[in-house]
Amino acid sequence: MAVGTVLVTGGTGYIGSFTALTLLEHGYDVVIVDNLYNSSRVAVDRIELICGKRPLFYEADVTDEAALDAVFAKNPAIDSVIHFAALKAVGESGEIPLEYYRVNVGGSIALLRSMTKHNVTNIVFSSSATVYGDATRFPNMIPIPETCPLGPTNTYGRTKVMIETVITDHIEAQRNNNKKAGQPYEQWNAALLRYFNPCGAHPSGIMGEDPQGVPYNLLPLLGKVATGERDKLLVFGTDYASKDGTAIRDYIHVCDLAAGHLSALSYLRDKKPGVRAWNLGSGRGSTVLEIIQAFSKVVGRDLPYEVAERRQGDVLDLTAHPALANEELGWKTQLTMEDACKDLWRWVENNPKGYRQDPPAELLEA
Ligand code: NAD
Ligand code: WQD
Repeated sequence: MAVGTVLVTGGTGYIGSFTALTLLEHGYDVVIVDNLYNSSRVAVDRIELICGKRPLFYEADVTDEAALDAVFAKNPAIDSVIHFAALKAVGESGEIPLEYYRVNVGGSIALLRSMTKHNVTNIVFSSSATVYGDATRFPNMIPIPETCPLGPTNTYGRTKVMIETVITDHIEAQRNNNKKAGQPYEQWNAALLRYFNPCGAHPSGIMGEDPQGVPYNLLPLLGKVATGERDKLLVFGTDYASKDGTAIRDYIHVCDLAAGHLSALSYLRDKKPGVRAWNLGSGRGSTVLEIIQAFSKVVGRDLPYEVAERRQGDVLDLTAHPALANEELGWKTQLTMEDACKDLWRWVENNPKGYRQDPPAELLEA
């Protein structure tokens, strides 16, 4: 008998696939909905290869309420949702904002409507540290606590703040309406998880990030420098007020992040808190140069880089204050940024074409 059945939207994507794997490893059944816009169905095979259990997979669009209705109707055991499906490229979000609002906000509304029709009342939502914008504008807000005022500086971040608001309003309304009607209301709950900088891959080397387009995040780009696909990394700004002049981020291993979703889901089911926001980060900041150094060490040679102008919209420091998640969820990161570098390199070195090729036999035998 499964611990529960979870609908994972965006479950073939990077963080979604690791969370689906972790759920299966902890006795949940998993139903994935993904339109494969930025992922591949091979992720489902890799999940099964690692844990011996296969999630159910539906190729469907999260903005398609009728398709979601059909998934809930066919899988009445679903009792909770983890909602990853979204567009996530910060730069692109400023170029095609309507598409970002349609998919991210519209998709979340369709999902909440469908959940409500099928009486599925727990939702864990992929928010982002980007909702805080430049937290350095507030004294005493670094590392960043959940109480830091929100102030996203790009369209993508604004979609996340809007979705947090939509979820909060809906859950609170459902609770109030049920209460007034003398009906049970405590089953309506939401976790807003604000991730810092997810990175790394599965230690087996057979599951990792495999986006459809060109990466723009630091560690995937460094991976491409290490394999020779790129000749160097551009370091965006060395004039920040940090120890080496480069910007500080809180890098969190994707396996730790996946575990955080399980902890949040258990908390919703056990404590029925209504709506809660938690930072998922390590509380440790690393500069860009520290990351280059750590990854170079794993690869075994100095990776070439060149100093460039600051990237527009970047901020000095995004480091989490993770105390709330540590205390309430009993969750904290177990893995370091160095572990993430090691696992990322094992993934990149062994799977230069990502999921478009079979993993090496020696990794499968290990
Ligand atoms: P990802 O692109 O790998 O995963 C997103 C998945 O959603 C993909 O599989 C994609 O195909 C799917 N998808 C996109 N539009 C869809 C639609 N209309 N219908 C159904 N599926 C759709 O990205 P990720 O890094 O795994 O991010 C997962 C979530 O976490 C996103 O909501 C993202 O905004 C959030 N997040 C990511 C990061 C990060 O740095 N990776 C940081 C903070 C928050
Ligand atoms: C990290 C650091 C760059 C590339 C983004 C989103 C955020 C969240 C996570 C979704 C920065 C520097 C990078 C390069 C560099 N995603 N850098 N050269 O910008 O912190 O966060 O991903 O929610 O919303 O904004 O991550 O990996 O792009 O950059 O010097 O070629 O590396 O300037 O300081 P970021 P990143």
